Amino acid sequence: MTGDQGHIRPEEARPDAVRPGPAPAGAVRPEELRSHQWYGTDGLRSFSHRARTRQLGYLPEEHLGKPVIAVLNTWSDINPCHVHLRDRAQAVKRGVWQAGGFPLEFPVSTLSETFQKPTPMLYRNMLAMEAEELLRSYPVDGAVLLGGCDKTTPALLMGAASVDLPAVFVPAGPMLPGHWRNEVLGSGTDMWKYWDDKRAGLIGDAELSELENGLARSPGTCMTMGTASTLTAAAEALGVTVPGASSIPAVDAGHDRMAAASGRRIVELVRSGARLSRVLTREAYEDAVTTVLALGGSTNAVIHLIAMAGRSGIRLTLDDFDRIARTVPVLADVRPGGRFLMEDFHFAGGLPGFLSRLTDVLHLDRPTVAHATLREQLAGALVHNPEVIRPRENPLADEGGVAVLRGNLCPDGAVIKHIAAEPHLLRHTGPAVVFDDYRTMQRTINDPALAITPDHVLVLRNSGPKGGPGMPEYGMLPIPDYLLKEGVRDMVRLSDARMSGTSYGACVLHIAPESYVGGPLALVRTGDSITLDVAARSLHLHVSEEELALRRAEWTEPEPRYERGYGALYDEQITQADTGCDFAFLARPGEVPDPYVG
Ligand code: FES
Repeated sequence: MTGDQGHIRPEEARPDAVRPGPAPAGAVRPEELRSHQWYGTDGLRSFSHRARTRQLGYLPEEHLGKPVIAVLNTWSDINPCHVHLRDRAQAVKRGVWQAGGFPLEFPVSTLSETFQKPTPMLYRNMLAMEAEELLRSYPVDGAVLLGGCDKTTPALLMGAASVDLPAVFVPAGPMLPGHWRNEVLGSGTDMWKYWDDKRAGLIGDAELSELENGLARSPGTCMTMGTASTLTAAAEALGVTVPGASSIPAVDAGHDRMAAASGRRIVELVRSGARLSRVLTREAYEDAVTTVLALGGSTNAVIHLIAMAGRSGIRLTLDDFDRIARTVPVLADVRPGGRFLMEDFHFAGGLPGFLSRLTDVLHLDRPTVAHATLREQLAGALVHNPEVIRPRENPLADEGGVAVLRGNLCPDGAVIKHIAAEPHLLRHTGPAVVFDDYRTMQRTINDPALAITPDHVLVLRNSGPKGGPGMPEYGMLPIPDYLLKEGVRDMVRLSDARMSGTSYGACVLHIAPESYVGGPLALVRTGDSITLDVAARSLHLHVSEEELALRRAEWTEPEPRYERGYGALYDEQITQADTGCDFAFLARPGEVPDPYVG
């Protein structure tokens, strides 16, 4: 990753023209490759491995001495966001072969945000473990990681960061815009909106059936600035993709070209000896935070970036988010906070164009997988549509899209995506209506006996990392039907859950510590007064310390959710939201020996 090693040239930062430069000088000799231990030594093991590679159909001259590139693929029939990745893996392999590498595809767990229950967040760390251990235990010199549906991006990068081989991330890319009766639809965002319209009696079953056809028209990730697009943009901002990769629509031919370019690039990186840790620096993580906040991105990125940074040995905190949020405006006018969709963002200049608006607050001298410096990578990047990617003097919001709250209800912090809330709720005091769990809430939310008014504060507990379990995306608590029919579309809502990146509303999320482990949320009672004040960054329960102490004495710790299996491991090891919900034994520093091969 020095100046002469085949960088992706500045003009190629245009997302429709990503292709690598010439092959780099070979800093790493074939016998210095990690895979040489498996294939190239005189021992019995190498003899066996060469024989077995012949069994795979390859002659020694096709692979010996070449960088072995693992293509970690989260493709699955059950995951509509990744259903095209089987083809993209072929493009990656094409690029690897072109650059003189030897590609090997590894199917890894798919985490389908739509289908996996109780939530794919329960399995993020499992995929991270799988990625780390596959890369460590097989003859791999470098990796290309194919993912994009929400948790897959952090999971793959957490695993790759832990094993610290050279790696390039290939984002799955957003699906095409949705359509219904001449309206453009955003996946997720419009699903919530029209479901509320159905509950309010504004549309019926026939309209819903049509909407089913129009919400998601092609393979690819959600095409709003939801969690998937936020995190793939964060990956590009970190510098682990080829430039412009994160917004290329999944079914655009440019996506194939980007995948092949990533395959070529990883071979060059292996030959240059550039490990992932050279890219994943504190400066890179700070720039990813800046990017997420200026995009008005998903609150889920807070948890994931903290966890990812932890795997890089970097302590990123909620305070880093709040500090940076005060210095960057929101410039992406993309739903759910704005008007446009990811395809518009892509043609407006994509992330290179977007980052070109922020060069004064980015660390421009850090390396990326494609360039010696981010400055070089962004040279020549342009914005083609200032409505979608706003200029600094005309932001969507003056401050970054996420605020970190503190107070006696959330001693270890909470977050709110204030740009997606109705402004009059950003300073609000109201009486609590408490639901002990999600099912109780679903069952009772529409009960007129609760007499919920727009001024009430809806509180959901036991939905955090342990209590959920897996911290499900329950945070956009439903507004009672009878209020929806009166036209109420937002209320203050509190929980220790997460919220979908495509959701919206005055929803305070990630309250830590969670109620299931005895956080103060466990002590709130219906009728208690609560004040949310986003400008003051505070969330306060108006109950005396003495009364809270009495309630605490009455509180009993619930039984663990799982008696055995992966869930029991999860329950034992999961950390709280403010530290990224990683497993304690994975997040801690320490050496892991490379496997012995004789
Ligand atoms: Fe996969 Fe939204 S459901 S990205």
